[in-house]
Amino acid sequence: MAQPIRVVVTGAAGQIAYSLIYQLAKGDVFGPNQPVILHLLDIPPMMGVLEGVVMEIADCALPLVREVIPTADVAVAFKDVEAAFLVGAMPRREGMERKDLLSANVKIFKVQGEALDKYAKKSVLVLVVGNPANTNALICSKYAPSIPRENFSAMTRLDQNRAQAQLAARLKVPVDKVKNAIIWGNHSNTQFPDASHAVVDVNGKDVPVPQALNNDPWLTNDFVKTVQTRGAAVISARKMSSALSAAKAAGDHMKTLWQGTTPGQFASMAVISDGSYGVPADIMYSFPVTVKDKKWTIVQGLPINEFARSKMDVTAKELLEEREEALAVCSH
Ligand code: NAI
Repeated sequence: MAQPIRVVVTGAAGQIAYSLIYQLAKGDVFGPNQPVILHLLDIPPMMGVLEGVVMEIADCALPLVREVIPTADVAVAFKDVEAAFLVGAMPRREGMERKDLLSANVKIFKVQGEALDKYAKKSVLVLVVGNPANTNALICSKYAPSIPRENFSAMTRLDQNRAQAQLAARLKVPVDKVKNAIIWGNHSNTQFPDASHAVVDVNGKDVPVPQALNNDPWLTNDFVKTVQTRGAAVISARKMSSALSAAKAAGDHMKTLWQGTTPGQFASMAVISDGSYGVPADIMYSFPVTVKDKKWTIVQGLPINEFARSKMDVTAKELLEEREEALAVCSH
C-alpha cells in the first residue's frame, strides 16, 4: 500500500462535494490502492453541516480513508495537499449580476491561491470547479506564483461528458463508444462544444461522428445549444444546479490528470493558453489535451473550419473580458 496523500475539497458541506467525497474515498480517482487523508474546507457557518458529512464518511466504512480533517481555516485545509478540488464558491442569488458574482468569487480564489502558495506541496494539482471556473483558476494561479501555472486547471469535463452523452444518444450507442468530443473556451454558455473531431466505435473501428451521422445539421445547431444550456435545463427541472454529474466530472478530470489519458483519446480541460489555435495567451481556455506523467499537452494540428473559428473567438473574447474585470477587482 502507498503512503496516504492529502487531498483538499473546498465547499465540502455543499452539494457537489457530497457526491465527490465518496468517489475520492473509495478509490475512483487516485486508484484502489491509494489511501487518502481528506481535508474538508468550508466557511464557519457550515461547520455543523460539515460535521454531519464527516460522520457519514466514517459510516461508509471505507478502508482508503486514513483521516478526515474538517476546517474553516485555509492554513489547515491546504497544508501539504497534493490534489485540490476548489468547489466552494458563492452561489448566484436572485437579482445578482454576473459582475457581482465574479467579484465575490474572484476574491475567494485570490485568498485560496495565496494559501496554496504558502501551504500546499509545490507539485499540487489544482482543479477549479466553482464558477466562474476558468477565471477563478486564472486568479488562483496568479496568487500562487511558486506553483507552476500548468498545475492549475478548470473544469469543462462536465460539458464534455454532456456532449458525448448527447452524441451517443443520437447515434444510439452506449456512451463509452464515443470519444474525443471537444469543449473549447469558457465554462459558460459561450463555450463551443465541437463534435467535428469526435469518433464512434463501430464494430471495433473508429468512425468520425460527422460521417456516422451523415453530416446531420443537428451537429452544428441543436447539439451545440443543448450542451451550452444543459446547466440551466437541469436547474429548471431540479430547482438546484447539477451536482451528481458535476461531481462525477470532477472525479473524471482529476483521474485524467493523475493517471493520464488512454492512447488515442483526449480530454477537454481549461488550462493556461499558450496561444495554440490562435487563442489569446494568458487566459484559462478549454482545449483538448493529452496527459502523461501528470502533465498535460494541448493536442495540436486539428483542422479548424470557419464555423469553429468564429465560435472559438466568441468564447475567448468573454474570457478576456472576465480577466479584465477580475484583475480590476484584485487590484483594489
Ligand atoms: P453549494 O452552494 O451546494 O455548495 C457550495 C459550498 O461552498 C457551500 O457549502 C458554501 O458554504 C461553500 N463556500 C462558499 N464560500 C466558501 C469559501 N470561501 N471557502 C470554502 N467554502 C466556501 O454549491 P454546489 O452545487 O456544490 O456548487 C459549487 C460550485 O460549483 C458553484 O460555483 C457552481 O456554480 C459550480 N459548478 C461548476 C460546474 C462546472 O462544470 N465547472 C458545474 C456545476 C457547478
